[in-house]
Amino acid sequence: MAAFARTLTSSLVLLVLFLSLTEAKEILVGGKENAWKIPSSESDSLNKWAENSRFRIGDSLVWKYDGSKDSVLQVTQEAYGSCNTSEPIAEYKDGNTKVKLDKSGPHYFISGAKGHCEQGQKVVIVVLSQRHNRFTGISPAPSPAEIEGPAVAPTSSADGLKASFLITLAVLALGLF
Ligand SMILES: *[C@@H]1O[C@H](CO)[C@@H](O)[C@H](O)[C@H]1NC(C)=O
Repeated sequence: MAAFARTLTSSLVLLVLFLSLTEAKEILVGGKENAWKIPSSESDSLNKWAENSRFRIGDSLVWKYDGSKDSVLQVTQEAYGSCNTSEPIAEYKDGNTKVKLDKSGPHYFISGAKGHCEQGQKVVIVVLSQRHNRFTGISPAPSPAEIEGPAVAPTSSADGLKASFLITLAVLALGLF
């Protein structure tokens, strides 16, 4: 019985880990407030930070900065490369910017403050494809159904999976105690 209880406890720990890994996150760009600034060195750059982070569809990026002095521009790859601020895809200057990542692939962001992008205040966020396996890093080839588009929104099927997992555990726990 004690052994079983321990097994149950570790299952619960795994469950919490599973949920924390699969749930959509709000990710503070740069990992801290006021990280949206000209980097002091290459190793301090936001792209270094981004390379070491995982981004998934449904996650949101959050920038915190002084909105009177700076802004966040989402731009094309070309505008990112040339630091062209003239026609961004989207412009945010509220100082507390949140952008939901709704598709996979690269997303390009540069500072709208004059001269800042040229000095390295820019970041590419690469969002992993939906089926990307966080544990192995392997993305399986998409199935025909995925190419045509899922009939059910992926988030709700993921929620359904979580819910049935929780119910199974609850039933197990009730049966035990
Ligand atoms: C910046 O981008 C705009 C819109 O794409 C373009 O018209 C303009 O020529 C670009 N400016 C430079 C300096 O490349």
